[in-house]
Amino acid sequence: MFANNIAYNLTMQKTPLWYKDAIFYELYIRAFNDSDGDGHGDIRGVIEKLDYLQDLGINCIWLLPMFPSPLKDDGYDVADFYNIHPDYGTLHDFKELVDEAHKRSIRVIADLVLNHTSDQHPWFQEARKGPDNPKHDFYVWSDTQEKYQDARIIFLDTEDSNWSWDEEAKRYFWHRFYSSQPDLNYDNPEVQEAMLHVAKFWLDLGIDGFRCDAIPYLIEREGTNCENLPETHLYLKKLRRFVDEHAADSILLSEANQWPEDVREYFGDGDEMHMAFHFPVMPRLFMAMRKEDTTPIREIIERTPEIPQNAQWCTFLRNHDELTLEMVTEEERQWMWEQYAPEPRMRQNLGIRRRLAPLLDNDFNKIVLANSLLFTLPGSPIVYYGDEIGMGDNIWLKDRDGVRTPMQWNASPQAGFSSNAEPYSPVNNEVPYDPAHVNVEDQMRDLASLYYVTKNMIAVRKTHRAFGWGTFEWANSSHPTQVAAYYRRHEGEELLILNNLSGESIDLWVEIPERQLFFPPPNLFTGRATGELVDGRLHVKLASHGYEWLKLT
Ligand code: NOJ
Repeated sequence: MFANNIAYNLTMQKTPLWYKDAIFYELYIRAFNDSDGDGHGDIRGVIEKLDYLQDLGINCIWLLPMFPSPLKDDGYDVADFYNIHPDYGTLHDFKELVDEAHKRSIRVIADLVLNHTSDQHPWFQEARKGPDNPKHDFYVWSDTQEKYQDARIIFLDTEDSNWSWDEEAKRYFWHRFYSSQPDLNYDNPEVQEAMLHVAKFWLDLGIDGFRCDAIPYLIEREGTNCENLPETHLYLKKLRRFVDEHAADSILLSEANQWPEDVREYFGDGDEMHMAFHFPVMPRLFMAMRKEDTTPIREIIERTPEIPQNAQWCTFLRNHDELTLEMVTEEERQWMWEQYAPEPRMRQNLGIRRRLAPLLDNDFNKIVLANSLLFTLPGSPIVYYGDEIGMGDNIWLKDRDGVRTPMQWNASPQAGFSSNAEPYSPVNNEVPYDPAHVNVEDQMRDLASLYYVTKNMIAVRKTHRAFGWGTFEWANSSHPTQVAAYYRRHEGEELLILNNLSGESIDLWVEIPERQLFFPPPNLFTGRATGELVDGRLHVKLASHGYEWLKLT
């Protein structure tokens, strides 16, 4: 075993640009597995489940913030960048998690919350003592609320201004999120340095990179919307240089919920962020599926610029936040709300607080089809914990808590998550999403389960570099509206992916350009020849919401 571990580690270290091929798994420590029965998931609980993750096939975990925090924004309100939240464990546990993950060829990235801290952070506690305090300029202050009026409010449901009055400082402070999350002042070189120092601390512990939270908002300038400013990019380039110097294999994954052309800027010339979430693709996958029309996907891919060779998109279906509808038109937003959030309670800010399975009517074929899109479109995919077994949501919990309920490991009342009868959040007990119906243990015994389909998709994806590295081209087919048909090509490998968005079975004809195919191509999962070739065209019967991944070479 030990020898194997060394081999794994060497493989990991010698894989440049590993993130182009990686399959990520987003995990909320508090929700994953409680090892000590206090009702909160913890780091040791995650360590216990590493074999599960290895078996699923993912190769990088993204951990939501695990730092000391009053948890008013589930840890995105950091009170100490240099420690672990006591509910989750210790720095020692964390180091062990990273080491144990590495032994299994799994990398670990964590949130780096650059834009703001908790108001409980000692920097803010000092800063609010007044303008003479050396830490005052760590934050953005003003005597009035007049500045930066063109900046939008992001947490529309709870905040009515980006300025809040601080009684102690007798000044207003700037915040893009909750008023308990004052924004750091990146015009202050000390702040810039301090956050590099934070990054170094975690890199030194062996972490493989960061998901960089809320990066468009680092800098404010009058007369702008205070997003994506050149000075913000300058700082991120500095962060990139720093990371490259200290831990060359580590990555920066950008959370910039912006249009593709604006996100493109975060890759710089390959000298800024390694990866960026493709936010606009996500709602369009849901739009396309409900409309049974590929147009929304076509339009956004068309609008997506080329990125540097060493950069990669990150695609996702769901995450720990609401399904954000910021990157759609007003009309599309209304339509999405009508379709996917008929109950007002399902809506939040400019989005929808629901998980993948309930969004897709808990329809197995639709969920699988959404995964087929996720795993085959350009970019490296992220799976949100619990979505691999089709967990549900609880819209009656506050804020986004309804999509952060305990992971369901088995059919017991606490879902095998905790021995504590009162976990941090109720287990989702709503039939058919309750632990008796949705849990890992049962699905691992059933080869036809969503768990196995996901696992197979991951396994197949990992053996074909065209998915991570390849070009993308739409295929000409008889049903361009209902079927998302495309080629992924890389170094002589050519794959043809077919996704039937419609609820009808379809007799599909696909043109096979310039290629002499003598036999129907094999399906990547079964190896079985699929369809028939007639006059240089491939004829495939697609089931309703069916998909095929075919190998043309
Ligand atoms: C984005 C995170 O995904 C979200 O959960 C958080 O509330 C905000 N950033 C503020 O940090």
